[in-house]
Amino acid sequence: MSQESLALYQAMSTLRAVRRLRPDPIPDDVLKRILQAAAWAPSGGNVQPWRIVVARDPAIRQQIGDLYRPQWQVYGHNARKAMEQLEGEARAKRGRMLDACDHLGEHMGRAPVLLIFCFNPKHMAITDADLGRASVVGGGSVYPALQNAMLACVSEGVGCTLTTLLCYEETAMKDILGIPEDWYTCAVMPLGYPVGGGHGPISRRPVEKLCFENQFGQTLEL
Ligand SMILES: Cc1cc2nc3c(=O)[nH]c(=O)nc-3n(C[C@H](O)[C@H](O)[C@H](O)COP(=O)(O)O)c2cc1C
Repeated sequence: MSQESLALYQAMSTLRAVRRLRPDPIPDDVLKRILQAAAWAPSGGNVQPWRIVVARDPAIRQQIGDLYRPQWQVYGHNARKAMEQLEGEARAKRGRMLDACDHLGEHMGRAPVLLIFCFNPKHMAITDADLGRASVVGGGSVYPALQNAMLACVSEGVGCTLTTLLCYEETAMKDILGIPEDWYTCAVMPLGYPVGGGHGPISRRPVEKLCFENQFGQTLEL
């Protein structure tokens, strides 16, 4: 395998949420490469029905942080209750993750950059919109851009986390950021240099549990 391939696999396998971020600024050239990576993402019909508002103004970041804090407090409270069902190492691990989430909940507005991902459904062919279940196809034209940005962050040593809780505050977010009526928000990604080790080992289900041969549930032999 070439060095380039190895680096890409390395980035994918260490892309974890980094929630403790230093307030130090991210240089423009680094930020530009991260945004370029987002712009390379595929989308249905190559329409790119997304935009990013890059929030670097401290007052704007603080307003967004102030909206995120109470949303996280509610979500985090429930997540801690659910954690009580766990035992041993699983519980300890979840506790560590929730501590990091609490930190982000308190400090979101102090991350030097917040990327606010916006989308316009009018520009999307949402092929599962009328199936009477949660529609996910539209997101497929937006979230690859987030994934590309996050992979670029790994490559740049910049910490990041995909967050979606601020969708609950969409009206306020649109107000703060001057987002036009027919554009909506789907994620806020705080960026910053990590306080600790940053990106690193991840925990995911094994391929055999996720991928099947010919029939759903049938073991795939590779
Ligand atoms: C669609 C989506 C929404 C998420 N929303 C949040 C969020 O609002 N706040 C947060 O702290 N993390 C959020 N995350 C990060 C996940 O919690 C994290 O990726 C997952 O727990 C796996 O942890 P790891 O990435 O550190 O391995 C989100 C991730 C995804 C993919």
